[in-house]
Amino acid sequence: MKVLITGAHGKVGRAVTQAMMDAGHEVMTTDLSQPGFERKLPGTPAYMKADLTDAGSAYAVIRGAEAVVHVAAIPEPTGNPPHVVFQNNLMSTFNILEAAVRFGVKRFVNISSETVPGFFFPERGFLPGYAPVDESHPVHPQDPYALSKYFGEQLMDAAVDRSDIRCISIRPSWVQFEGNYELNLGPQIRDSSELSANLWSYVDVYDLADAIVLATQSDLPGHEVFYIASPDNVGGHDFAEVLSRHYGDRIELRALDRTDASGISSAKAHKMLGWQPKRSWRDYLDTEGTALRK
Ligand SMILES: NC(=O)c1ccc[n+]([C@@H]2O[C@H](COP(=O)([O-])OP(=O)(O)OC[C@H]3O[C@@H](n4cnc5c(N)ncnc54)[C@H](O)[C@@H]3O)[C@@H](O)[C@H]2O)c1
Repeated sequence: MKVLITGAHGKVGRAVTQAMMDAGHEVMTTDLSQPGFERKLPGTPAYMKADLTDAGSAYAVIRGAEAVVHVAAIPEPTGNPPHVVFQNNLMSTFNILEAAVRFGVKRFVNISSETVPGFFFPERGFLPGYAPVDESHPVHPQDPYALSKYFGEQLMDAAVDRSDIRCISIRPSWVQFEGNYELNLGPQIRDSSELSANLWSYVDVYDLADAIVLATQSDLPGHEVFYIASPDNVGGHDFAEVLSRHYGDRIELRALDRTDASGISSAKAHKMLGWQPKRSWRDYLDTEGTALRK
C-alpha cells in the first residue's frame, strides 16, 4: 500500500515510518521540518513539509495515498497554551481526515491517546472506575490535549458514517524508546510508592509501531478504538498489591492475565489486530531503573 505518515519526524513517527517500510509498504511522509535540498540516501521515504492546520496543505500531501497514519500532534498540554494545543491537534486531524474522505482513502489510522479516559493531565483528580482500564471504560477528558484526542475520535465516527473510509484509533500508553526509558520510568522502577499518572502503564515505541502497521493492514470495518500498552507494568510490580496499597478499594480490580499486569488492557488489540508485543522495560533497564546500555 501507499501509506502517508504524518508527524513522521517525531518519536512515534520515526518508528512507524521504519516499521511500515520494513512491512513492504510504499511510504510518503510529512511533518513541520524543512526538507533540505540534498541527495537522498537510498531507502529515504518521500517527504513533504506541511502544517496540517492548513487545509490546502493537508489536501496537497495526501495525493496518491491509499492509507493514512495520522501521528502528527502536540503530544501533551503543558508546553503550549491550551488553545494552541487544542486548535493544532483538532484542526490537523479534521483537515487530514477530510482530505482522506474526499480523496477516497481506504484506511485511516488515527493516533489518539491513553489520556482520553482522563489519565495524566486532569486539573482535578481522576480515578478510573476499574482496572485494568479497557475500551469499555467511560471517558472523562479534562485538559485540552485529551479533549482534542477525544474529539478526534468523534471525527472518525462521523467519517465512517458519511463515507466508505475505515478508521482505527490507537490510544497508546506513555511511549518509551532507548533514549527516554531511564529518564521516564527509572523513578517508578526504583520506588513503587512513586505515584503513577496512568496506573504504571507504558508502551515500547517499536511495539507500538507494530500495532500501527497491523491497524493499517486491517480489514476491520467502521471505527474501532484500541488501547496499546505493554502487557507488564513499570517496575514489574504485583499490580493487585500496588493498586490496593495506593487506592484502597476506590478502584475496582478486575481479572488480571498476569501478576505484573499493566493498568491498561490491550486485550482487544491482541484479539482483533493480532498484536503481540515483544519488548519490555526489562530489555532496557535493570531493576534499579538504570539503563543497561549507555
Ligand atoms: N509520546 C507519548 O507518550 C504519547 C502517548 C500517547 C499518544 N501520543 C500521540 O502519539 C503521536 C506522536 O507523539 P510523539 O511522542 O511522537 O510526539 P512528537 O512531538 O515527537 O512528534 C509529533 C510530530 O508531529 C508534528 N506536528 C505537530 N503539529 C503538526 C502540524 N500542525 N502539522 C504537521 N505536523 C505537526 C511535530 O512536528 C512532530 O514531529 C501524537 O499524536 C501524540 O499525541 C504520544
